[in-house]
Amino acid sequence: MRYMHLGRTDLEVSQVCLGGMSFGSAGWMANFEEARTILRKAFDLGINYIDTANIYSAGKSEKIIGEFIKDDREEFIISTKVGGKVSEKHHGFARREVEFELNLSLERLRTDYIDIYFTHTWFDRLDTVDVLKTFSRYVDINKIGYFGLSNIKGYQLAYIDSLAEGKDLTRPQIAQNHYNAIYREDEREVIPYCINNGISFSAFSPLAAGFLSGKYERGITPKTVRSKEYSVMLNRYFKENDFDVLDDITAIANEQSTTQYAISLAYVLQKKFIPVVGVSKEKHLDDVATALEISLTDDQVKRIEKHYLPHGLEMGTAGY
Ligand SMILES: NC(=O)c1ccc[n+]([C@@H]2O[C@H](COP(=O)([O-])OP(=O)(O)OC[C@H]3O[C@@H](n4cnc5c(N)ncnc54)[C@H](OP(=O)(O)O)[C@@H]3O)[C@@H](O)[C@H]2O)c1
Repeated sequence: MRYMHLGRTDLEVSQVCLGGMSFGSAGWMANFEEARTILRKAFDLGINYIDTANIYSAGKSEKIIGEFIKDDREEFIISTKVGGKVSEKHHGFARREVEFELNLSLERLRTDYIDIYFTHTWFDRLDTVDVLKTFSRYVDINKIGYFGLSNIKGYQLAYIDSLAEGKDLTRPQIAQNHYNAIYREDEREVIPYCINNGISFSAFSPLAAGFLSGKYERGITPKTVRSKEYSVMLNRYFKENDFDVLDDITAIANEQSTTQYAISLAYVLQKKFIPVVGVSKEKHLDDVATALEISLTDDQVKRIEKHYLPHGLEMGTAGY
C-alpha cells in the first residue's frame, strides 16, 4: 500500500479508500458483523482512509465505522459528508443544519473530529462565501480537519477554490466524484483543475458499482441483490458501449491471468486518483490486494480507453 498527501496538506491517506455506503441496512450491504470483518481486513491491508456519509443507511454506516475505530481513532482518516437529503426537514447547508448534522456524525462516529468533511452535493443558488465560512469555522475549532467537495462540477470547483483562496477561507483539498473506466467525464474539467491546483481527486464507484467486475453479461437482466435494490446503477451503466469497454478489460485480464476487477481498479490507481472501493463481502478485498500489484502498460491503458464514448453528465443523487 502506498500513502499519499491529501491535497496540499500533510495528512497521509492510503492510495485506496474504503467506502462506507456498503455497510448498513439494505439487503446488498454488509451487516454490522460482516462490516467489522471487512474493516479489519482492510486495515490489515494498509487501508487507513474510510469514507462515509450522514445519509448512508440513515446513519448506520457511520455507527458501524465509529464502533470499529473508537479504540484506535488516531490510526484512521475518516471522511463523512453533509448536505444530502436526510428528510424533508433536514438537508442542505443552512448553518443550523450543518451544525446539527455534524454533531450527529461526530456522535455516531464516536469521535470529536472528522478528518475530511465533504459537501455531498452543491447548489448554485447558494451564497458560496456563507458556506465556506460555515466550514471554515469548524476547521478553526478543530471539529473538522479538511474540507472536500463531492459531486462537484468543474466551474463550481474552480469558483469555490478561487473564492476561498481570495477570502482566506478553508480551501477544498479533495474532490470526490464519479469516475471509472466507463464513466470518465471529469477528465474534461474537474481532473485537470485538481491536478493543476494540488487537489486530490477521489473516484467513487471505481468498479461501476460492480459492473466492471465482469459479473454482469450483455443482454442478460442483472440479478444481483444490489442491482435490484440500488437502481441508480441500472441507469448509470449497462449501455452497449459500457460492455465494449468491459470486453477490452476482460481481454487484458485474460492475458494477465487476473480478474476484470483487478484491471479496472488498477486503471484508476495508475492515474493516482484515490478510488473509494465498495466492499460488500470480505473476499472483494482480495481483488483490491491484487490490483495494488498490477502496473498497466501505456498500450493497455490505451486499449481500455479506446472504446469510451462521452456520456451525459451523471451526478450522485445524495438523496435528492
Ligand atoms: N459521493 C457520492 O455521491 C458517492 C456516490 C456513490 C458512492 N460513493 C462512495 O464510494 C464508495 C464505493 O461505491 P460503490 O459501492 O458504487 O463502488 P464500487 O467499488 O464501484 O462497487 C462496489 C460493488 O462492486 C461489487 N464488487 C466489489 N468487489 C468485487 C469483486 N471482487 N468481485 C465481484 N464484485 C465485486 C460489489 O457488488 P455486490 O454488492 O453486488 O456484490 C460491490 O457492492 C461508497 O461506499 C461510498 O463511500 C460516494
